[in-house]
Amino acid sequence: MQNNIAEILENNPLIPVVTIQNSADVDKLYLKLSEKGIKCIEITLRTDFAWEGIALFKKKYGHEFKVGVGTVISRTQIHKSIELDVDFIVSPGLTTSMIQLLEASKIPFIAGVSTPSEIMRAMEIGWKYLKFFPADIFGGVQSMKAFGAIFSDIKFCPTGGIDEANYEQYLELNNVISVGGSWLAK
Ligand code: 3PG
Repeated sequence: MQNNIAEILENNPLIPVVTIQNSADVDKLYLKLSEKGIKCIEITLRTDFAWEGIALFKKKYGHEFKVGVGTVISRTQIHKSIELDVDFIVSPGLTTSMIQLLEASKIPFIAGVSTPSEIMRAMEIGWKYLKFFPADIFGGVQSMKAFGAIFSDIKFCPTGGIDEANYEQYLELNNVISVGGSWLAK
């Protein structure tokens, strides 16, 4: 059970992956993304200001935006995400200790895979929506096509090396539900 991540991915085919350094970034990002008609943001835990940035973005713009946390790689970070009541959680991978907590959090989430065995592990747990990361390094569109032929029930959100020039090639595929990337916020 992925706590209805499907709804978020279906409604948001483009998911900006951002870093926030300070409170001014929060407003800048809101304006930039709003101009593009985007209503969803993944704020990564890659800056000291990240948690504060997530709380602030949610407080100021949470009525309009789905505010997610990205780069979640530990149980501590999942607990903190629950505390802040984020709208969704993104992890670059999948560990045994995170599985139960993610499901119990009641927060929609997506975890990263890049190989067939990782996809099969996620399928065993019952997860159907996966992040394909880092997409460009692990074969990009060609890998998505190959995975589509084998894992027909799985829907992917590729991220990593997606940009203005190639995002449509991913979104055209039946097994790609949305794409993520930092290019959307640049
Ligand atoms: C991610 O966290 O999903 C990626 O780092 C985004 O990759 P990009 O900067 O190549 O878009």
